[in-house]
Amino acid sequence: MAIKSIFVIGAGTMGNGIAQTAAVSGYKVTMMDVAEDFVQRGKSTIAKSVEKLAEKGRITAEQKQAALDIVPVTDIKGVAEADLVIEAATENPEVKFKLFQDLDSIARPQIVLASNTSSISLTKLAAATKRPDKVVGMHFFNPVPLMSLIEIVRGLGTSDASVDTALEVGKQMGKTPVVVNDSPGFVSNRVLCPMINEAIFALEEGVSDAEGIDTVMKLGMAHPMGPLTLADLIGLDVVLYVMEVLQRDLGDSKYRPAPLLRRMVDAGYLGRKSGKGFYDYK
Ligand code: CAA
Repeated sequence: MAIKSIFVIGAGTMGNGIAQTAAVSGYKVTMMDVAEDFVQRGKSTIAKSVEKLAEKGRITAEQKQAALDIVPVTDIKGVAEADLVIEAATENPEVKFKLFQDLDSIARPQIVLASNTSSISLTKLAAATKRPDKVVGMHFFNPVPLMSLIEIVRGLGTSDASVDTALEVGKQMGKTPVVVNDSPGFVSNRVLCPMINEAIFALEEGVSDAEGIDTVMKLGMAHPMGPLTLADLIGLDVVLYVMEVLQRDLGDSKYRPAPLLRRMVDAGYLGRKSGKGFYDYK
């Protein structure tokens, strides 16, 4: 089935980035969130982003307009008309399981339901629906308009046809999709979050300060951002959650979250989104 319209659930950092990228790539996009101010905030983030990309000549005036034309909604019923759903709601298993049950009952039976989850089992999400073969992971990276990877996650029951749909849409969005099997943290967060966690242990033990640790990894390993700057970009709550999933589901104490990470999350120091993390953003 040719995909023409995409329904994106969630207008936060990931949701608005996915919606923008899909619209710029020629899809008709609807972006949904639970409250009007969330969708409007998502729309204004998109407007700023496409303004910048158009100024730099990275997108055309038509592509910019397509992103500005994204339809903001607060109701899920429009899913009935969509050719593909990409869910990027809050990373909370209860929220996602309920959402997938609702999506399954509203979306046409032949439609693929994709999730941007970074840590929840695709196999479990699929089991919440009556179409487990049509549930697939499309894990994007922040900032979505700039990062070229999508991890396409194959759950235990995901069909080849659903993986092919995700691959095709991913390529049409200008990304490089890589297929991985469903496993805690997939490949990206299985490797990335323990590195960030180790940097936090090093900070806590006084091996160096935040700038020192980040500079070592930037200049010594050619990472575009140091691990603590990256943690602030991702959100410390997300990093903590991923470490808890890895520790629980892989059952290995090597994944234990750094105590400082937990304390910072308890204090509400979540990184850029809260104005304070390892660095100050106020
Ligand atoms: N839209 C448009 N422009 C954007 C943008 C967006 N969403 N986000 C940033 N930019 C712009 C910046 O404003 C900046 O513009 P100016 O040059 O005009 O100021 C430009 O992009 C380049 O930014 P910078 O000069 O600050 O830095 P950079 O050249 O290093 O590129 C970066 C920025 C692409 C983010 C780069 O630092 C990078 O690749 N960082 C690593 C990001 C990363 O690892 N992301 C993955 C996180 S993990 C994840 O998302 C998954 C998960 O499950 C946790």
